[in-house]
This record gives sequence, structure tokens and C-alpha cells, in this order.
Amino acid sequence: MSVRRLAEDSVQPPEFRFNPENAAWAEATILKYPEGRQQSAIIPLMMRAQEQEGWVTQRAIEMIADMLGMPYIRALEVATFYTQFQLKPVGTRAHVQVCGTTPCMLRGSEDLIKVCKSRINAQPLEPNEAGTLSWEEVECQGACVNAPMVMIFKDAYEDLTPEQLADIIDRFEAGDGDKVTPGPQNGRHLSVPLTGLTTLTDELPVHSTAERQAPAQKAPVKASPAPTVPAASADAAVPADRNRPQAMEKPEQIDDLKLISGVGPKIEAILHSLGIFKWDQISKWKKAEREWMDGHLKFKGRIDREDWVKQAKTLAKGGVEEYVRVFGKKPR
Ligand code: FES
Repeated sequence: MSVRRLAEDSVQPPEFRFNPENAAWAEATILKYPEGRQQSAIIPLMMRAQEQEGWVTQRAIEMIADMLGMPYIRALEVATFYTQFQLKPVGTRAHVQVCGTTPCMLRGSEDLIKVCKSRINAQPLEPNEAGTLSWEEVECQGACVNAPMVMIFKDAYEDLTPEQLADIIDRFEAGDGDKVTPGPQNGRHLSVPLTGLTTLTDELPVHSTAERQAPAQKAPVKASPAPTVPAASADAAVPADRNRPQAMEKPEQIDDLKLISGVGPKIEAILHSLGIFKWDQISKWKKAEREWMDGHLKFKGRIDREDWVKQAKTLAKGGVEEYVRVFGKKPR
């Protein structure tokens, strides 16, 4: 963990004032705490100051301490302890906080840091030339089960590959950060096991609205014998079947679909359940088929962004060797 100090005097603004809306909000927030416990409002107030200014200035810390009747040193302790508070100006479009603690490190956070260094700045906490992006390494963010992960402002992006992080950074830089869906980026639901549920497997499966509204005399529904796959649940908005990619019987020799960046064990299992076993099948997906699959997996455009078709075409043509020749790196 790096030493956290206030920014140099040269960048500290001489004054801080909440704007009228935030001032009213701060007053109301302080009133929520019991008499004598108003100092507990320091974290929300400091966070609001950061949202207003982009970072927490020394004057903001001091003014909030004055508002709450606490010594400056107590307020400084809070500001310098929590990495959520930025003590110097950071990127205006994204400040990427890469968790570097052991679980994330073992799952590839060092590669995420390399992406930040190459895409943003070789140095942490130094914004890029345009001042739009910055990054730093932080300690555990409490999402170890979805390692590796990063925080960007208030959102966590989890189960990341370096390629996905590069794409996320590019989208924030392009001003499309609000269109990036936070949470796991490998298709799994929250932190359920990648290979499906291992407990509560006798729960009733999810049924469509029509089934739930069917007359009561219907035969009772049997418990599901197999783990459910959230992305393919019956309630999902499944696009028209005419665009469903061509399926095949499971051949003796199947391709390792996980070599396509963006396909993990769970997605591969879903593809198998849809009769997709070969790179060659994916390489032939037209736009409508890609959109069908995208909707089925609730991927919101990921198949095109990760260019599964080009990856699959390359693997079908010459396997890993061809992949390395075309993409300059090994498939994962
Ligand atoms: S170790 Fe990275 S979130 Fe816990």
C-alpha cells in the first residue's frame, strides 16, 4: 500500500465551498445522526466533496472538519486512510483502481496493471496527457471471489481479462463509460461458480410467466436435477429462433472454444448446450446470428467487441500457431 499524502500546495485550491445543492444535502445528512454523533457524517460529506471537485482538497477536508466540529487531524486520518478518497487530481473520465492484493494478483492483476501503464500512464496517480484517465494499485476491494477486478469511481468491474480492461478504458475515454455494465465480465451471474451451482441444486427451475399463470391442476413441477444457468434461464428475452446459429450433433473431436478470448468454461458449456462445438461454426456467424447469441447470453455487444468471429476463423485456419501469428499473443 502506498503512502497517502495530501497533494502539494501548488495544486491545492485556496478555497472550498459546497455548491448550494450540495450544501443543503450536507446539512440534511448531518441531521440524520443522533445528537453528539454528527462526526459520523464525515465519510458521506467527504465523498460528496470529491464528487463535486473530482478529488478531496485540503480545504475541503478542513471545511468539513469545521462543519462537524472535529479536529483537522481526525478528518485527515479519514481522508488518508480510505483509498476511495482521491487526494490529488485524477482522470476526469475514469480513475482505475486495480486491486493488487493476493487473490487478484494470483488471478492476473499484474497484467491489468500493465494495461493501465500502456493505455494511461507509466506512473500511477499521474493522469494521461489529456487529464481524462489515471490509475493506481489499491488493496483488497472485497470482491476477491470475482478476482481480478478494478474499481472505476463507484463501480466494480470483475473477472477481468487484460483485453476486457483495455476495452473498458477505451470506452470511458470515448465518453461511453456509462454504457459499460459493471460487475462480472465473464458472463457469470454475480459470484456463482463458473461451472454452475454446486449447492441448492434441487431448487425449482425458473418458469416463464405463462407457465406460472397456468391452471393449478397442472402436474406438479419436478425439482431440477441439474444446475441452472442464469444466462439461459427461461425468463430471458430470447430473440427469434430463426436467427439461432446452426447447431450440430456433438462430434467425436470438439474444439476448445475457451481459446476464444471472452469464452470461459460456463459460456463454453452454454455453447455446447446449443450445439456449438467447433471454431468453424462460430467463424460463420452472420450479424443476425451474432445478435441472437449476444441476446441469449445477455452480452450487450460483447461478441462483436471481442471479435469472436475473427478469433474463431483464425483458430479454425491454423490453431494456436495461427492465432499467435495474427494476434501477436497466445490465446488464453
Ligand atoms: S483481493 Fe482483490 S478484491 Fe480482494
